[in-house]
Amino acid sequence: MNTTPLAPAALRPSDSDGTDETLFAGIASDLREQGYSIRPAALPADLAEALYTHQLSLSGEDFSAAGIGRGNDLMQNNFVRTDEICWISGESDAGRRWLNWSGGLQQYLNRRLFLGLFSFESHFAHYAPGDFYRRHLDAFKGQQNRVLSLVVYLNPGWQADDGGELVLYRDSTDQEGIRVTPLMGTVVVFLSEEFPHEVLPAQRDRYSIAGWFRVNTSLGGAIDPPR
Ligand code: OGA
Ligand code: MN
Repeated sequence: MNTTPLAPAALRPSDSDGTDETLFAGIASDLREQGYSIRPAALPADLAEALYTHQLSLSGEDFSAAGIGRGNDLMQNNFVRTDEICWISGESDAGRRWLNWSGGLQQYLNRRLFLGLFSFESHFAHYAPGDFYRRHLDAFKGQQNRVLSLVVYLNPGWQADDGGELVLYRDSTDQEGIRVTPLMGTVVVFLSEEFPHEVLPAQRDRYSIAGWFRVNTSLGGAIDPPR
C-alpha cells in the first residue's frame, strides 16, 4: 500500500550541504514550542520543481475523488471535501525523492523529539476552482494512527486574491486561525490530533501534497495496515 517504512540511513543519500538539517532543526523546535511549524520557501527548490512537474504530468485518471475515513469506513462526502487525490508511491523519480526527503524529516524528528514515527503515507491533492476541505482533524485521540501531518504546496506565483488558504486553528475553540498561503515550497507540519484545519475555496487550480507520519500500532506482530 502507500505506507513506507523508513529505509535504513545507509540506503538514503544524505544531503551534502546540510540544508535539510537546518530546516529539520527549525521544524523540530517549532513543534516542541507550539505543536506546529509553518515555513515558507522551505522545500528544497529542485525537489519542489520536480514534484510540480510530476504532478502536472499526471492525468485526470491518476486522481480520484478524495474520501474521509479509512479502509472500509472510507466514504466520499462532498459536503466535507471536494478535492481529488493521487497517492504517492516510489514509482516516479519525483515520488522517490519526496519519500527520501520526508524520510529524512522522520528520522530527524525521531532522533530529536523521540516521536517514534514509524511509517509515512502521502498523496498529491488537486483542488479545482471552488473546491474546499472543511474544518477537520487528521486523527482522533486514542486512535494512535496519524501522529504528524505534513503539507507542502506546489503553486508558483500564488496571489493573495487567489484564495485557497489553509487555515490552521490552534485548538477546538479557535475561530480565527492562522492563514497559510499555498505558495510553492511552503512546508507546514502539525500534530494531527491537536490542530483542526480547513482549506478555503480557491479561484484557480491548487496543488498540494498532504502526508501523515504514523506510529506503529501493530498488535501481536501484525503490522498495522495503512489507511
Ligand atoms: C488534508 C488537508 C490541507 C491542504 O488533506 O487532510 O488538510 O492545504 N490538506 O491541502
Ligand atoms: Mn487535513
